[in-house]
Order: sequence, then structure tokens, then C-alpha cells
Amino acid sequence: MSFPTQRPRRMRGNPALRRLARETQIAPQDLIYPLFVREAIAEPQPIDAMPGQVQHTLESLTREAEAAIKVGVRSFMLFGIPAGKDTQGSGAWIEDGIVQRALRQLRDAFGSDALLIADLCLCEYTDHGHCGVLDGERVDNDRTLEIYQRIAASQAAAGADVIAPSGMMDGQVGAIRSTLDHSGFTDRAILAYAAKYASAFYGPFREAAGSAPRFGDRRGYQMDAGNVREAVREARMDVDEGADMVMVKPALAFLDVIRAVAESTQVPVAAYNVSGEYAMVKAAALNGWIDERRVLREILLGIRRAGAQMILTYHAKAAAADIPCWDEMG
Ligand code: PBG
Repeated sequence: MSFPTQRPRRMRGNPALRRLARETQIAPQDLIYPLFVREAIAEPQPIDAMPGQVQHTLESLTREAEAAIKVGVRSFMLFGIPAGKDTQGSGAWIEDGIVQRALRQLRDAFGSDALLIADLCLCEYTDHGHCGVLDGERVDNDRTLEIYQRIAASQAAAGADVIAPSGMMDGQVGAIRSTLDHSGFTDRAILAYAAKYASAFYGPFREAAGSAPRFGDRRGYQMDAGNVREAVREARMDVDEGADMVMVKPALAFLDVIRAVAESTQVPVAAYNVSGEYAMVKAAALNGWIDERRVLREILLGIRRAGAQMILTYHAKAAAADIPCWDEMG
């Protein structure tokens, strides 16, 4: 039985029907807002390639989180930019490190209204800009794990609800899980950057976080863009090591990876709509070349449709404020 009996257009005939039939929804609580907090600055510093995003002071960080909470975004991923860097990235684990101070301050301000996720990596904290400690010009995986354990304990002690290791070291999830469990933090979750690709889409972030490697690149630890079966393996290994959630990153050029990981694991899947993806939308919108609101809606729906339950995005606050208007736009 087909045309003329079957007329798919019937279901598109008015807004109420379209709304009823829509398979994918987005709500503000699905969004995670990444925020940068920088030590030793008096004023927030705009990030050139990420219009609308800044490196926050501790004060402006709290104001921005409050504005996001008002529109329903309660989850935050925190990145710290320390005043000084060294070979070991000690700014990442000291008790009065910038992220630790930010965590304590946000917890004081918002209590359990805010879900605090701490990115755990070394690239913002090392003077060489790599995500681990070096042995010559190579990142030493297992020595880096010991440092990650120290960072995890310190972030948990400062109040992080969720630890999110992003360095792509082998065994990082297991190492962090065991430290958390032995330090009395069995209740803290791990969001693993499980399939993180070596991507040019991180360009603006490296300006934002001051984390570009001084030499070489990250292809020795981040994944090759041609691979999807390997992403499934990475995600499954992370779940076996104790990950409570797994992430695919970047999002838009990797929608098939999101789908594959969602189908082969049973934990919630996150996707990171990264800095370069944000920059492209903003650049085109500022030139008047695209309708930013409608493009953003399609991007977020697409990432959700691919299988991501949660989306990390610099658009989080703006998108959440706009979601009530999406029905009319659709
Ligand atoms: C740190 C880290 C990076 C991003 C998140 N955590 C950069 C990198 O790996 O170079 C990228 C985020 C973005 O581009 O928005 N390891």
C-alpha cells in the first residue's frame, strides 16, 4: 500500500502534528557548558576565535554560571589556565590551583544546583603543552597516570562531582577510578573522553586555554580521524575500567562514531561540540551568511539524533534560552 493512500506530508501539515511526531528533543538539562577560568587576571579576557566566550576571572565565572542556571543549564565543564607552567604541570593538582578554587567557589555559590565537571588534563599546565609528562620528546604514559591520579584526588577534594580525563593516556580511567575509590570518593563519577580524535577543530581552544604543544602534535595519543572501530574499542575499555559516561569528540565530523559508541555501550554518551565547530557557526553568523539560531538547532538535534544523550557546547547558555522558541522555528 503506497501513494496515494500513504501521504507522509499529512504529518507535516501543522505545528501541533509536527511537534507530536518529532523523534528527537533537546532540553537545557542535556547541555553541558564548558567554561575557562584564568588565574591572575583582573578582567575577563575575550577569546578572539570564539566570539561571546571569555577566559573568566573567578568573579565572572560565578556570574556566568548563574546566568546559565537561570536558563536551565546546570552542568559545567571547567578548564583552568594557571598563571605559571612547569614540566610536570603542578598547577593542575595543587590545593589552591585555579580549578580547585573555582570548584570550591561554585559549590559555595550554588550547592547542588550546579553539577561540576572537572576536565582532567595536563596540557594547560605544562610548559611544553603536551597532555602528559615527557620522556625526551615522548609522552610517558605510565608516569603521566600517576600525575593524573594526583589531579583527580585534588579535584574531588575541591568538590568536583565528575572527573573528565581528556588526555587519552592508556589506562587513565582505571587509574583515576582506583585513586578516587581509595581516597573516599566512591561517589564521584567519571566522564571519559573515550574517543578523542587528533583534530584541527581544537584550534580556537588552544588559544583559549593557552595549551598548544610547543613541539610536535598530539597524534601519538589522540585518535586518527579515519577510525571508528577503534573508537568502539576505546569506549568499551573505558567502561570496563570504570567510566560512568563516555564521550566522543569532536562531534560534527564524527556523528557515525557517536552512533557506533551509543550502540555498543550501555552508559550515557556525551558529544563535545568543540571550539572550531563553534567558531565556524559564529563566523558565518557574524557575516550574515547563516541564520545562527536555526543552524544551531539543527546542529544540536543532529548530535542528539546520532545518539548523544548530552552535549558539551559553548552555545549552551544561548541555546537553552532559545529552546522555548524552537517549536515555532521547526
Ligand atoms: C585538553 C582538551 C582539549 C579540548 C578539551 N580538552 C584540547 C586538545 O586536546 O588539544 C578541546 C576542546 C575544544 O576544542 O573545544 N586536552
